[in-house]
Amino acid sequence: MTDKVRVLFVCLGNICRSPSAEGVFQSLVDQSGLSDRVEVDSCGTGSWHVGKSPDARAIQAARKRGIDIGHLRARQFVSDDLVRFDHVLVMDRQNLTDVTEAWHRCGGTRPELFLDYGQSAHREVPDPYYGGEDGFELVLDLIHEAGEGLLADIRERLS
Ligand code: 4NP
Repeated sequence: MTDKVRVLFVCLGNICRSPSAEGVFQSLVDQSGLSDRVEVDSCGTGSWHVGKSPDARAIQAARKRGIDIGHLRARQFVSDDLVRFDHVLVMDRQNLTDVTEAWHRCGGTRPELFLDYGQSAHREVPDPYYGGEDGFELVLDLIHEAGEGLLADIRERLS
């Protein structure tokens, strides 16, 4: 039995996909009554947006589903995250390459593709940054579905 499970979502900029994943997954955790047992955070492998709010389109798309991510601020991944977190869930294969490189150097939790917890044909969460608003809806659909799979896994671990 584990006292607390710590979950980290990682993308490139930490302004579109991973803060959306943090918000959606936090909301699933809250609804399931596990808020005291599960900690959720997000970060980016890049440093360009450190300290910034999520992209306005990500905030708006999440808000339409009743999820507030406007208070989140971007931070950059550090190798110590692999020690602090029990699940390190990346959005695409480039994130996986980057974070796995840190894992080879420093050990800790091995990063995984987040969508491995979902059932859809997608293995990666497509980067919506240079596209239209539809991209942000797809991001939310994919992370919601994978989030439910992840939560089922964590529930089992906590029981
Ligand atoms: P994210 O999206 O990795 O989902 O936060 C991006 C945000 C910004 C950039 C790339 C991807 N960028 O190149 O600035």
